[in-house]
Amino acid sequence: MDTDALTISGLNAFYGESHVLHDLSFNVKKGQVLGLLGRNGAGKTTCIGAIMGLVKAKATRIDLFGQSIAGLSPEAISLKGVGLVPQGRRIFPSLTVFENLTVAARRGKTGDNSGWGLEQVYATFPRLSERQRQLAGSLSGGEQQMLAICRALMINPRVILFDEPSEGLAPQIVAEVATVLKQLRSSGLSIILVEQNIKLALDIADEVVVLNTGYVAHAGGVDSLRSNDRLVEQLLGVY
Ligand SMILES: Nc1ncnc2c1ncn2[C@@H]1O[C@H](COP(=O)(O)OP(=O)(O)OP(=O)(O)O)[C@@H](O)[C@H]1O
Ligand SMILES: [Mg+2]
Repeated sequence: MDTDALTISGLNAFYGESHVLHDLSFNVKKGQVLGLLGRNGAGKTTCIGAIMGLVKAKATRIDLFGQSIAGLSPEAISLKGVGLVPQGRRIFPSLTVFENLTVAARRGKTGDNSGWGLEQVYATFPRLSERQRQLAGSLSGGEQQMLAICRALMINPRVILFDEPSEGLAPQIVAEVATVLKQLRSSGLSIILVEQNIKLALDIADEVVVLNTGYVAHAGGVDSLRSNDRLVEQLLGVY
């Protein structure tokens, strides 16, 4: 049997005394997209933060391709190959596009020129190439989102965690983000996609986990939600 990209078991997370995530368990299969869904405050960002080592957590297992990453620093987890596209994009507005990309750059472990580097990013996203000397803060929301995605790609990750990449973007730009996500999955990357845009999540995800107040309220193949408007409404308050 193939090893899963991420195996999460018995994950609990805390802000000080506040116990926010309760015994979450789910897997991300290699080359698949797991949609991590839930209403505002359900615990999605906390879950992403706990996997990245940014939030205090206790877990039975957090394994990346069968190797434990539990308890490692965010830097070490990133070096092991987990990329993060954070909620709200968090690019550096007063640095140029080029600087934003190169602060994160890391060649693949083999040291060769395969994988994602500046050349590949600029070839795939020509608009970023055209704007490479511009301050990132002057880009449109959609361009900033592409920059945030490319910055995560520059570490040549094996798994990428996307935290609400469509938030605040016009429908046409959301469609572009969806295309990029599909391309990344086709390239073999494994993905966690946090989304409140249910249409987008159901279009892209292979499996879904729905959180409610820090607990797993539903988990299954994407068809378990796609074909069940009532369940979507009950869990997420939308059709
Ligand atoms: N830094 C923090 N300190 C204390 N509590 C926090 C902190 N960040 C989040 N929380 C709380 O943890 C719970 C989960 O929040 P989280 O941000 O993970 O939700 P979310 O599902 O990502 O929501 P959204 O869709 O609004 O981004 C909420 O009750 C929130 O108020
Ligand atoms: Mg969030």
